Amino acid sequence: MKLARYLGPWFVLLLGCGTHTPPTSEAPAVAQEEFLSAARLFTPLPKVPDDPTNRYGNSTLAAELGHRLFFDPALSGNGALSCATCHSPSHGFSDPRPQSHGMGTHTRHAPTLLLSAYHHWFGWGGRADSLWSQALGPLENPIEMGGNRVAIVRHVLTDADLGSRYRAVFGEAPDSGSWPLSGLPEHGELEGLDPGWVAAWEAMPAGDRAAVDRAFANVGKALEAYERQLVPGPSGFDRYVADRVAGRDGNPGDFPEAAKRGFDLFRGKAGCVVCHSGPTFSDGEFHNTGAPEASGGEPTDPGRFQGGRLAQASRFQAGGAFSDDPQGQRAERTRLLKLGSEQWGEFKTPTLRNLLGRAPYMHQGQFETLERVIEFYDTRQGAVGASHHQEQILRPLSLTPEQRADLLAFLRSLEGTPVPQMWAQPPLR
Ligand code: HEC
Ligand code: HEC
Repeated sequence: MKLARYLGPWFVLLLGCGTHTPPTSEAPAVAQEEFLSAARLFTPLPKVPDDPTNRYGNSTLAAELGHRLFFDPALSGNGALSCATCHSPSHGFSDPRPQSHGMGTHTRHAPTLLLSAYHHWFGWGGRADSLWSQALGPLENPIEMGGNRVAIVRHVLTDADLGSRYRAVFGEAPDSGSWPLSGLPEHGELEGLDPGWVAAWEAMPAGDRAAVDRAFANVGKALEAYERQLVPGPSGFDRYVADRVAGRDGNPGDFPEAAKRGFDLFRGKAGCVVCHSGPTFSDGEFHNTGAPEASGGEPTDPGRFQGGRLAQASRFQAGGAFSDDPQGQRAERTRLLKLGSEQWGEFKTPTLRNLLGRAPYMHQGQFETLERVIEFYDTRQGAVGASHHQEQILRPLSLTPEQRADLLAFLRSLEGTPVPQMWAQPPLR
């Protein structure tokens, strides 16, 4: 055992008598070993896990098509909105506005897309079980991009550049010649759909509707292939740990002493690790932090309680006809999902990597700064939703001002290098 090698006979002595004052020359080695074994639960960031429900997920050609779709305002109802409107690459693929505006105003904040491919539920309430099915929501949501399925698919297939890229990735494409100009099916999830569009959809032959659905799912799959590229490079924390593991000195600025103390608080007294666990600093699950409502009133957003149901009802779910792995683990997870009232008001744990450039924070952008987030966890002042089974784990922490600063220094050390420019910038046509 490595620890024993560092400590020699002191190891036995330390365990045996539980002394609290080990000799000074040995103590740093113990601390370092303990630090490294704890740190390695969080670093390095592994490669993006495969998504078997999308067989094009790792295709570069699909990512290049998705890149173009991500920035294309022609997919929206008013020709002016793209995914990048709310997921701004210069703002950590998130939105500087607390609540997003598209065709209307959203009740939630647009979360970062950085590292979203590591999750298995998507949206603050987890209303989708794959990135590709998630992407189809905002395209048709009347308060987001307000587009419609037939017009979106026709645009992709008939635009010279997009159409040839689509065929290169997915092979044959349907002929849109006989389709109406616009059309989409009614979904339980979306309110305010244009009744004319719904009627036009219902009047289409079943075969055409199936072809549109298939191509629409492919649009989502290309967008996912692009989103899978949105992974920042190593952070100061990652570099520091990698250097120590390799026995290198490294750059002292990568992980200052304050950040190290902050890491101890993070996994100790402050208990952040209970939910912000693993290399993404998220358990990928749902919790109620009691973050106060932006409006100041009682919470109204059902969060996971609603999101889980939508995932189970989605036409484009992992277990559905458009999935490339309908019997797989993702499909199973959605099928077996049990939802009770205790899920009301729970939201997905966000990643804590690359926090600095993507304020404001939380599902409504309630907090403008990280200092405010830490203050909230510390004091719990203004916490809401206790009547809805709020997590008992969150209690006031009584941190000193130095400890708050240390926690912040730790969060700052999680800032990775930016996503490669070729993906962060709009594509060159
Ligand atoms: C009008 C603003 C707006 C536009 C445009 C928009 N989004 Fe979003 N996006 C949001 C909001 C708000 C949420 C949170 C929604 C929720 O919780 O259900 C979100 C959530 C997401 C998520 C979930 C991330 C996670 O980790 O859970 C993904 C992925 C995403 N959007 C991708 C896209 C893509 C792809 C497009 C373009 C097709 C797009 N968005 C267009 C506002 C927008
Ligand atoms: C009980 C689980 C849990 C614990 C413990 C927890 N968090 Fe969170 N954290 C969450 C959830 C869930 C959200 C999203 C809440 C929302 O949007 O309402 C969140 C949001 C955040 C955000 C905002 C990120 C963003 O993208 O908006 C930060 C920063 C954060 N937490 C840091 C911390 C720190 C620091 C600690 C320890 C003091 C901590 N969290 C403890 C679950 C937890």
